[in-house]
Amino acid sequence: MPNTTQKFLVQGGKTLNGTVTVSGSKNAALPILCAALLTGETCEITNVPDINDIHNLLKLFSHLNVKTDFQDGTVHIDASGLQMGDVPKELACLMRASILMAGPLIGRLGEVKMPFPGGCVLGKRPIHAHTHALKELGAEVIDQTKLLHIKRDKPRNARIIMPEVSVTGTENALMLAAVTPGKTEIRLAAAEPHVQDLCHFLNKMGAKIEGIGTHFLTIEGVSELHGTKHAITGDYLEAGTFAIAGLVTRGDIKIQGIQTSQLDSFWEKLEEANASYELKSDEIHIKPNGKLNAIQNLRTSVYPSFATDLQAPFAVLLTQAEGESNIFETLFDGRLQYLYELEKMGAKVEVHNPHQATITGPTKLMGVPISSLDLRAGAAMVLAALCAEGTTEISNINYIDRGYENLEGKLTTLGASIERIES
Ligand code: EPU
Repeated sequence: MPNTTQKFLVQGGKTLNGTVTVSGSKNAALPILCAALLTGETCEITNVPDINDIHNLLKLFSHLNVKTDFQDGTVHIDASGLQMGDVPKELACLMRASILMAGPLIGRLGEVKMPFPGGCVLGKRPIHAHTHALKELGAEVIDQTKLLHIKRDKPRNARIIMPEVSVTGTENALMLAAVTPGKTEIRLAAAEPHVQDLCHFLNKMGAKIEGIGTHFLTIEGVSELHGTKHAITGDYLEAGTFAIAGLVTRGDIKIQGIQTSQLDSFWEKLEEANASYELKSDEIHIKPNGKLNAIQNLRTSVYPSFATDLQAPFAVLLTQAEGESNIFETLFDGRLQYLYELEKMGAKVEVHNPHQATITGPTKLMGVPISSLDLRAGAAMVLAALCAEGTTEISNINYIDRGYENLEGKLTTLGASIERIES
């Protein structure tokens, strides 16, 4: 169960300096570990981030008679004995990503029966994109109330048009299509770097996926996939978070371990904000910044547009930019709540509706007790604390532990003053 008693104490005002390497991507590691359930042969996955979401997923696997071993960033998975066990509700509900086991379980066992992944602090998150794709591939939804029960007796190929460009929905469709012999098309597929990484992994296992990185994927499925080795791609969302940490502290930092082209819309917004940075293909250099400018419209959307997962971190930069910046969060209807926490720190914020807000800057942020409301909002609170005057106490950091590997350790190495305490 998540530890909700720990807090971060951040002493603001320190300028960051040095080099940081990002960890493997959480959102790539989760589906790739699930895809390893598609074979009875062992898979070796490296560069896996040591975060709570991964540990919880591996706990879920143990209820399916899957053997795993996680050491120094490497996971070995042996799903030769895979069976539909009793998955505890509290575990399945801990993270939405448990839904990613649906495609592989249907593919291997013809059935998935587990507690419904549950609600989400980010707002309404239906799973109709998942069930639509799985049904197109021959599955039948028996129940999707408290239990998610889906069966497939007659596999079939399909030309799937996704009802929305869903990341995990596309991933479930890909995983089931990979073990559905014949040609399947997925139109309006999500194209995020983590979806691409899953495609590369499935191809190494023996699937033939084309169109990787586009919204139109074709999959030549096979009856059996085999074991393989794969290194998880670097986390571009973590890289974006560190870039903002450097900018709001007027720091000089280098960020390594990612492909910078995965953040094109992010760079475009940094240009508009007049930020100082230099890019190589695999390194970001954030340089001490002059005056930052407001952004006309920070509009989140599906990849390659500006990532919703970087919206809250970017908003912290906007509190330090001169003028009025507008945020338009188009994906989630619960992802602006953190702005009220920034307001407590002195930010000038106007929330117009669940999707739109205006931030007027620059404002001096002050260290006060604040709360981390979800994973990315939690990271935003840390960024705000880094540039605030005085000490900020951040509660509910269990959200941050879900997806950022050793955030405080990495920031401390760069010169930040951040301490984990028991409350
Ligand atoms: N949506 C739209 N329009 C679209 C696409 C999606 O309104 O064109 C809505 C959906 O209705 C849904 C929400 O946006 O409510 C999220 O969409 P999606 O189904 O793509 O989300 P997901 O697959 O459940 C993944 C990531 C999230 C990330 C979203 C969006 C994983 C394990 N999770 O979730 O990651 O925010 O995609 O990019 O990959 C995080 O890492 O902090 C996180 C929440």
